[in-house]
Amino acid sequence: MTTDSREIARRLLARSVGSPAQQHNASDAARDSGSVRNTLAPAAAGARVVSADFDPTFTKHPGVIEAEATFGNLDTVFSAVDLPNPFYLPHQDTNGPTVRYFDEDIPNFGSFSYLGMAVEPRVREAAKSAIDTYGTSVSAARIVSGEIPLYNDIETHLAGLYGVDDAIVTASGYLTNAATVGFLLSNSDLAVCDSLVHSSVLSGTQWAGCRRLNFRHNDPASLDAILSMSRSSFGRAMVIIEGHYSMDGDIPRLPEIIEVARKHRCSIMIDEAHSFGVLGKTGKGVRELFDLPGDAVDVWMGTLSKAMGSVGGFVAGSHELVQAFKYTAPGLSLYATGPAPSAIAAALESLRILDEEPERVTSLQENGATLSRLAQEAGFDTGISQGTPIVPIILGSKAITCSAKMLQAGINVNAIVYPSVPEGEERLRFFLNTAHTTEQLEHTIDTLRDVAATI
Ligand SMILES: Cc1ncc(COP(=O)(O)O)c(C=O)c1O
Repeated sequence: MTTDSREIARRLLARSVGSPAQQHNASDAARDSGSVRNTLAPAAAGARVVSADFDPTFTKHPGVIEAEATFGNLDTVFSAVDLPNPFYLPHQDTNGPTVRYFDEDIPNFGSFSYLGMAVEPRVREAAKSAIDTYGTSVSAARIVSGEIPLYNDIETHLAGLYGVDDAIVTASGYLTNAATVGFLLSNSDLAVCDSLVHSSVLSGTQWAGCRRLNFRHNDPASLDAILSMSRSSFGRAMVIIEGHYSMDGDIPRLPEIIEVARKHRCSIMIDEAHSFGVLGKTGKGVRELFDLPGDAVDVWMGTLSKAMGSVGGFVAGSHELVQAFKYTAPGLSLYATGPAPSAIAAALESLRILDEEPERVTSLQENGATLSRLAQEAGFDTGISQGTPIVPIILGSKAITCSAKMLQAGINVNAIVYPSVPEGEERLRFFLNTAHTTEQLEHTIDTLRDVAATI
């Protein structure tokens, strides 16, 4: 047997040329089983071959080719029609109720700092002071040398807000979903997700290697039907939904969904990314909105990057669960550096302000209701939104041009396109801010009416 690696490569290559279908089927099977780990596992003898056209630089990777075809010449496309390219366009100062582009401050609907915390002087000061005390990084995983008192302070606060025993903060909301689902479920388990749940949850199900089934968006009857057919085939099963849907601005039918989930002996996980700080009379999220006890849901997940004006994620739940997350779940705390002290200090100060100034939530919610009403009165399609601080205006294929023309007209609002939303349902998505004025909202809808008429 030769030990020459080039000879092994040559032989593998020769075999792959003979059987592309075999290779295709193997990777399909791995994908269908939902297991990322399978696709990365070392090949069993003779079972796997190197594709003849494999290019180690990835320039022929389908994702790379698709990105080049779709986005490679965007600057040219936009400049040909004399519009600014709105993608990755750097702004010049803070991303709040207004934003500065091209040296001009303009009304802004592209910031999910709903309560204005990311620009709040108290929050900025708290972040700076944490840097002075702890430096810019804790420079270790929390379990070994990376722990600072700020983590416990914020975790206690978050647990209290959700009415549960404990919480854990992490460096990333996306990673929190991926690692939590990845830890809780495995290949004999089932994740039943709302069809509009965030991409990070889907990454979690791939990480877990579990089976994933989607139920029709916000439809407890669809959830019931899926669980009636499939629940008995799996060990653990978890229903995963959002507390406030970020593309559509609607709220889950939570009490009914909980009832169905419990009937079928399922756990429940809620992603509160756009709900915490936004829904409920004092902004405590969907739990406050429906007046539920903390243990109505098993896993409360949230982000610090939206209403809390910082960056990072959290999971809140029972003492045992959080202990497991802290000591045995890769990616949440283990094998990952603790969140930046400045980020946690900023979020903690935002939580204090949320307690002290509930009027920020009131004006945020009023602004959502006002923009939604104005949009509907102007004849725009606001989809299934419910007058919350996320207002979609569905424009189909006009959305991207409309976003660019709105920017040209002095208003920043982002277009959301496929694959984030289905083709034909492309939209402008308005994030409201507690500090938007009624005049800004009226001016925005007037401008949109004029701009949309020109496309
Ligand atoms: C519903 C939802 N969950 C999770 C995330 C990920 O959170 P983060 O951006 O804080 O990583 C997002 C991000 O936008 C989100 O909208």
